[in-house]
Amino acid sequence: MRIIHSIPEMQEWSSDERSSGNSIGFVPTMGALHQGHAELFAQSVSENRKTVVSIFVNTLQFNSVSDLESYPRQLEQDQVIAELQKVDVLFIPDKDEMYPDGFASSITAGPIAQHMEGLHRPGHFDGVATVVVKLLNAVNPNVAYFGLKDFQQLAVIRSVVRDLNIKCEIKAVPTVRNSSGLALSSRNSRLSPEQLEQAQIIHALLLEMAQMARIANTSSFALKDHFTDGMMSTSAARVEYVEVVDSHTLLPATTAQDGTTICVAVWFDDVRLIDNISI
Ligand code: PAJ
Repeated sequence: MRIIHSIPEMQEWSSDERSSGNSIGFVPTMGALHQGHAELFAQSVSENRKTVVSIFVNTLQFNSVSDLESYPRQLEQDQVIAELQKVDVLFIPDKDEMYPDGFASSITAGPIAQHMEGLHRPGHFDGVATVVVKLLNAVNPNVAYFGLKDFQQLAVIRSVVRDLNIKCEIKAVPTVRNSSGLALSSRNSRLSPEQLEQAQIIHALLLEMAQMARIANTSSFALKDHFTDGMMSTSAARVEYVEVVDSHTLLPATTAQDGTTICVAVWFDDVRLIDNISI
């Protein structure tokens, strides 16, 4: 596995591979890799001649210094995981490479980014959109892979890629969960054993809500209450939002029915978890 730190070297590698007729799959990450990331790598490896994974903890998308500082970093372990998945290139630019002195341009993600995550994390998706476009320009892949766990992020990236005519296919990969249903996340490592146990209820409640919606198109209000009551009665978590949205436009839906997605964000102390389920 080759490790590349500089953007020009990344671009040169990519241009050589593409002129040799090799397709390139790309998975952007912030490191602290787990089985959820590995699933994206595996899909890229199986569908492309070459796979590039980037690791860059993107300062632009963090809303608080403490979240940025406590974000887990484990580069050596990440290299082992990427190697095991047969990734060809690990692209690890540092902050000065991505945001050198004088860096001043950025992307505004638009209305799709303004509610749910965007409402509670102002500027977050502008930061995500900016870094993803920069990474796509560095790697120039044929296909890029994103997890459905970050449902709104995927929608934002699809819209940015479409709006800015970026020639790259965006593929969605289903959420990978542990045996008790908790969506794998780099932030799970910051939960106590008790919080980890309580966090299982998130997916269990989402499954119940999806079931309720499938039996009878349930009102979004009733579903939101079901989630909030369920979380409060079984855990010490604080619910930040529960939203039922149209799966394509991400606009709020009054009833949960076919073609809608339920998205939630909860806090366990200072650890924020998100999850979703599509009906
Ligand atoms: P990160 O949180 O490291 O996630 C990288 C990719 O892995 C994202 O597409 C995310 O949706 C996916 N992923 C994370 N956990 C997953 C799980 N349990 N199942 C399936 N996919 C999962 O998302 C980011 O980094 C950043 O915002 C990034 C896009 C790299 C821009 O900085």
